[in-house]
Amino acid sequence: MKIYIDSANVKSIERLTEYFPIAGVTTNPTILVNEKRPYLPLLKEIRKIISNDKALFVQAIGSQAEDIVKEALFITEQIPGKTIIKIPVTDEGIKAIKLLSREKIPTLATTIYTPFQAIIAALAGASYVAPYVNRIENLAGNGVTVTAEIDHLFRTNKLNCEIIAASFKNVHQVQGIFLSGADSATVSPDLIEKMIEFPSTATDVAEFKKQWQNAYGENSNTIINS
Ligand code: E4P
Repeated sequence: MKIYIDSANVKSIERLTEYFPIAGVTTNPTILVNEKRPYLPLLKEIRKIISNDKALFVQAIGSQAEDIVKEALFITEQIPGKTIIKIPVTDEGIKAIKLLSREKIPTLATTIYTPFQAIIAALAGASYVAPYVNRIENLAGNGVTVTAEIDHLFRTNKLNCEIIAASFKNVHQVQGIFLSGADSATVSPDLIEKMIEFPSTATDVAEFKKQWQNAYGENSNTIINS
């Protein structure tokens, strides 16, 4: 089970990688454009923060397979370490996944709405697939069910492809995909924070501290100086 940060915000990435067990960072064109900075130095800065062993996902823009392949080669050369190319599951995208798989360049098949799209991408050689949970639900589908079906098909057909569920608007959706068997989720910084936030936890912690200080004195901030 892995959690990725779905953001290119340097401050959020610094904070989350310091505090939480983060497997890497996923970006898409919207996420990069939102930072209003040249994309290449930004990606290099993110790589430096997360180090070479954590995954950094960068999405291709080209419409033709040959262009996507060129982009993949460019990005993997520019951004060292575990850099993975995200490719939308169009026909040209699937062709690019096949071509890159032959060159042993790992890819993530993105913009996935149906189990069949995931199966085709995995058969073409994608290392990862990203079902769009919330966007599926915006279309009155069930993103958690689609993710569970992909997981079932991958397992029964012994397809070596990891599910990184994406597009979440609440913690309930993230919990749903993990309970249904998905390997990983990529989640926005604010939702990652919400995954551990619970008002009763803060109240309990404050109560423990108060009782301790009442017993051992106001300056007893840790067990060591009590
Ligand atoms: C992954 O990186 C996806 O592109 C992303 O999770 C989509 O999320 P959104 O539906 O919130 O834009």
